[in-house]
Amino acid sequence: MATKRKVPDNPNSELIDFLNELGEYEKNVSRQIHKYNAYRKAAGSIAKVGHRIETMKDIKGLEGIGKKIEAKIEQYLSTGKIKKLETNRGDETGAAINQMTRVMGIGPAHANKLVHQEKIKTIDELRAHPKRDQLLTKTQQLGLKYLEEFEQKIPRDEMTQMETILVREITAIDDQLKAEIVGSYRRGAKASSDIDVLVTHSSATKLPSLLHKIVDILTKKVQFVTDTISIGDSKFMGVCQLDSSKLHRRIDIRVFPNEQYHCALLYFTGNDQLNRHMRIVAQEQGYKLNEYSIQKVGTTGVLSKPLPVTSEQDIFDYLQMDYKEPNQRNM
Ligand code: CTP
Ligand code: MN
Repeated sequence: MATKRKVPDNPNSELIDFLNELGEYEKNVSRQIHKYNAYRKAAGSIAKVGHRIETMKDIKGLEGIGKKIEAKIEQYLSTGKIKKLETNRGDETGAAINQMTRVMGIGPAHANKLVHQEKIKTIDELRAHPKRDQLLTKTQQLGLKYLEEFEQKIPRDEMTQMETILVREITAIDDQLKAEIVGSYRRGAKASSDIDVLVTHSSATKLPSLLHKIVDILTKKVQFVTDTISIGDSKFMGVCQLDSSKLHRRIDIRVFPNEQYHCALLYFTGNDQLNRHMRIVAQEQGYKLNEYSIQKVGTTGVLSKPLPVTSEQDIFDYLQMDYKEPNQRNM
């Protein structure tokens, strides 16, 4: 498989990829989450530069670049390589651990265990392992089964076709039901890594059994959902497929009562960075904002009842922020 370029149109894509690769190693192999975050921050900062970085002057004053990362960038600019990265790439155990974390549900801790205790070095070895099913949870087994499919992005056109099916089948259950595809799709992305669906019903008493009914129909009637990872009253995680000529895709469906719907809509549309930003603005203005509600924080820290919200606009208004259309939320 050719190496994937995550930021193809950026003038500094190679440097950004290198920093991200160093970060992945820290997260998965060294288990140094702070270092991982530092690399991610630096990579994010460089991604915004907009012109090709040629000398150290070009990174002067950039946010989130500490001394150690600065030294690595210097190596890269003068030699085209980063020693630490070369060392990491030569570390077979590290490479094996990184491979294991490609599987949905396998985190750094589990990956380390598979490599160190079971001496598994590749995905093929994991697949062929005699104790495979005992070594993996149900979620991880699905992750392994669909590994290559889940790594492929979903083109927008396919997202739109899935949206049509989802909205049609869900609203056919009850005309008081509303369903929207959120996440990167709602922000206008050309391709998405999964399908995030939000559902609401005007009557709260209908909610508890609703998700099971929806998933049942999507599984049995239209054979759209192929696997269930987990299901409760408010959240379904699973796998779906538009038709047998298409790849299996990850899908999440979440149900919210009406009064929480717009906070959820805002939150699950994202992106993450905008969510973080809005949470901070909220704090500064004496509010608490999350995926369920916006509340006023009293002087003694006591939270008010959730404030009335009937649109995303209402939330922007409380925070005295200009409204952003979903396609303007890619921060
Ligand atoms: N989200 C979040 N925190 C979580 C889960 C989700 O903030 N623990 C929000 C993010 O703002 C994100 C949205 O929910 O934008 C959807 O999450 P996700 O599917 O991970 O990201 P997308 O933006 O949809 O991008 P992708 O195409 O990669 O799925
Ligand atoms: Mn998504």
